[in-house]
Amino acid sequence: MSILIAPSILSADFRRLQEEVDSVASADWLQADVMDGHFVPNLSFGAPVLKTLQTDLLLDVHLMVENPADRIAEFLAIGAKHLTFHAEAVEATDARRSLMEAIRKGGATAGIALNPATPIEAVEDVIEEVDLVLIMTVVPGFGGQAFIEDALEKVKAVRARFPRLMIQVDGGINANTARMSIDAGADNIVAGSFIFQSSDRKAAIASLRSR
Ligand code: DX5
Repeated sequence: MSILIAPSILSADFRRLQEEVDSVASADWLQADVMDGHFVPNLSFGAPVLKTLQTDLLLDVHLMVENPADRIAEFLAIGAKHLTFHAEAVEATDARRSLMEAIRKGGATAGIALNPATPIEAVEDVIEEVDLVLIMTVVPGFGGQAFIEDALEKVKAVRARFPRLMIQVDGGINANTARMSIDAGADNIVAGSFIFQSSDRKAAIASLRSR
C-alpha cells in the first residue's frame, strides 16, 4: 500500500503562498481546505486564490461547504484533480451520485468526507462508488487541533471491508498520529501545521510516510 502525503495549505504562510507550496514539492497531493463560513464556522479561500498557485502536485480540494454542487465547476476549471465533499452537506443518494458524476466528468476523482461524529453508515449508499473516503480526525474548520483517536475505529472498519478503497485522514496529523492512522489502514495523509510549522518540510513529509 503506497502512502500519499497531502500538505494542507490552510496552515501555510499566506504572505508567501507560492514559496510555501514550492517547499512541499516532495509531497504527492496538495490539499486546499475550502471553507464557506456556513458548513464550518471558518472562511478560508476559493478558486481565485488557488488559481494563482503553480505546482506539480495533484490539487485536492476539500469542500467544507454547504452546497458543494454549486462550487465544483470553478475548482475543476483551475485544474483540481480530486474533490471531496462532505456527507453531512449532501445527504440524498441521488444528489451524491450526480455530484460524483459531475466531478468525474470534469476529469477529477470524487471523495466523500465524514466528520468525527458521523458514522460510516451515513455513507453506506455510495461507499462502494467513491474514489476516496476522508475520515476526519478533527472537527473541521481549523488547523492545529488535537487528533481524535476514536476516528481510527472508522478507518479500521472501512479498511476491513474495502481493501482497495483510498482512505484519507485529516486533522491533528504528525509523525506519531500518521503512523497510527497508517497502521489502522489509511493510505492518504493530510497534514497542515505539522508540515508548515516545520523548518524542514521535506523531512516532515518523509516522517509521515515512514511506518
Ligand atoms: C480542518 C482541515 C484540515 C486542517 C489540518 O478543517 O480540514 O485539513 O487544515 O490541519 P492540521 O494538520 O494542523 O490539523
